[in-house]
Amino acid sequence: MTSPADEIIARDIRFGIEAQADRAWFGGDLMMSVVVDALAVMLPEGERFFIRSLKHYAPDIDDAEVQAEIRGYAVQEAFHTREHEAYNAALGALGYDVAGMEARLNRMLGREIGPVLRLMSTCAIEQVTYSLARFILKRPELMDAAAPAYRRLWRWHALEELEHSAVALRVLRAAPTGLAPWKRYLLRVAVLNAVFAQMIWLAIGNMHVMLRATGVRTGLRTRLRLAWLLFGRPGFLRGLVGPWFAYMRPGYPGGGGAADAGLVAEGRRLLRDDPPAVPA
Ligand SMILES: [Fe+2]
Ligand SMILES: [Fe+2]
Repeated sequence: MTSPADEIIARDIRFGIEAQADRAWFGGDLMMSVVVDALAVMLPEGERFFIRSLKHYAPDIDDAEVQAEIRGYAVQEAFHTREHEAYNAALGALGYDVAGMEARLNRMLGREIGPVLRLMSTCAIEQVTYSLARFILKRPELMDAAAPAYRRLWRWHALEELEHSAVALRVLRAAPTGLAPWKRYLLRVAVLNAVFAQMIWLAIGNMHVMLRATGVRTGLRTRLRLAWLLFGRPGFLRGLVGPWFAYMRPGYPGGGGAADAGLVAEGRRLLRDDPPAVPA
């Protein structure tokens, strides 16, 4: 029997990234790898932040279904955190200043913004990870030439981001924030835009740090290539456009799960057909 598309399945999988640390893991392409790694390096701290911001509201929510979703979400994100800590250890072994990049992120995450804005920030970042998950699973061939441990990890992560994509927004609707619906809507949209801008700023800074460590000159040619990877081909940032517009809709329920049943099925098939080499 197949699981429903909106089921949140926690998969305790180890990918063994440490043993395959590679600066050019993305098909031998250093710049492509750096674009993805610049985002990846923020995930362990980011995912701990997401779990905390949802769990903060769990005791105040009566809906048993939402409670169960928070639990499923937290377990998935906890496994992601563990595997991305291994990923960051690999980045550190490759000579990248992981501690410095995490410190910059933590200065942003540690600001005293209160639980509502933390929850809204989580909703916004989940929309970013949802967009990137769709991007990866819609183009499975993109990762064909990637080093196996990296390919499997990213497809697994993309699948689970799709499965739990709407959870943070459901928590926002169910949480007793004291905000009128119109105010909640305006704030959620404003936070999305602020978070987008901050994430892009941080990621570009991380790319700069990584490229400097590899000795690549960050001159005009490098910048044009980066812009091409983001907006041209494969166009990582173009994948954000549709989900950005969707998020602007009042009452947007969140993506993933049943709404993306075909992609969830594709993600599950990819994981089944290309299993990790390292036993859990
Ligand atoms: Fe995650
Ligand atoms: Fe997530």
